[in-house]
Amino acid sequence: MRTRIVAGNWKMNNTFREAEKLIYEIMDLLAENGTDDVTTVICPPAVFLELAHDLTRESTLEVGAQNLSQFEKGAYTGEISARMLQSVGISYCIIGHSERRKYFNETYQELGQKVGQALKHNIAPIFCCGEQLREREEGAHFTVVEKQLAESLFHLDADAISRVIIAYEPVWAIGTGVNATPDQAQEMHAYIRSLFRKKYGGTIADALSILYGGSCNAENARELFANPDVDGGLIGGASLKASDFHRIIRSFG
Ligand code: PGA
Repeated sequence: MRTRIVAGNWKMNNTFREAEKLIYEIMDLLAENGTDDVTTVICPPAVFLELAHDLTRESTLEVGAQNLSQFEKGAYTGEISARMLQSVGISYCIIGHSERRKYFNETYQELGQKVGQALKHNIAPIFCCGEQLREREEGAHFTVVEKQLAESLFHLDADAISRVIIAYEPVWAIGTGVNATPDQAQEMHAYIRSLFRKKYGGTIADALSILYGGSCNAENARELFANPDVDGGLIGGASLKASDFHRIIRSFG
C-alpha cells in the first residue's frame, strides 16, 4: 500500500508561543487517538523548526520546512539551505508551492535545483503543482501540471524520484473555501500517476504518494481521501487548528 500522508502547511502564521501550543495540542490528540498508517507532518515557519523538532522527538509527528535554498551554501543573505535543515533534523520540505511561484517568482529550473538540494540532504520534497482558474476554464489544466512536473522533476533518475511526494493543489482552491470536487481531484491524481507510469514504470508510479491540497478541511477530507489516487492532503488553513487537523488525519476510510 502507498504511504498515506497528511501535511500541515502553516504558511506565515503563529508566534513562538502559539506554535508551541499548537504542537502540544496536535501531539496530545495523536497520542489519544492516532493512526499508525498515516504519516503526519507539520510544516511551521523556519524559525520554529528546531522547536518543533525538539518537541516532537518522542511523538509520531514529523516536521517539514516550507522552503529551502536552491544553493548549497555561501553568500545568499536570508536563505536557508537543505544542509542546515538536515542538521536540525528536518526530513520533509514543501517545494514549489503556488505562493512561492507567484510572489517569489520561483522558476521551473530553480524548483528543480531545490528538489535536488533536498534529496541530496535526505529531505523528502513535497512537490506542489496545480493550475490557475483561467487555465482550468480553458481546459489547459492537464498540460499545465504536466509541464510543471516535467520541467522540475522528470530529469531525476528512478532512485531519486521514488523519494518525491507530489501535492496537487489547484491554485483556485487554495485558501478560497472552494475545494476541487472529489472527481476533479481523482481525475488529476490519476493523470499525474499515469505520467509517472509512462516515464518511470508501474512500480514507481504505484508507490507514489499524491496529496490533494486546496481548501481541504475536516468536513470534506473524507470524501476527497476516499478516491483511489488521493493518498492524503496538504492542508493550509485547517492545519492551524489542532482539532480540525486531527479530524483530517482521521479521515481515511
Ligand atoms: P488551504 O491551503 O488548505 O488553506 O487552502 C493549502 C495550501 O496552500 O497548501
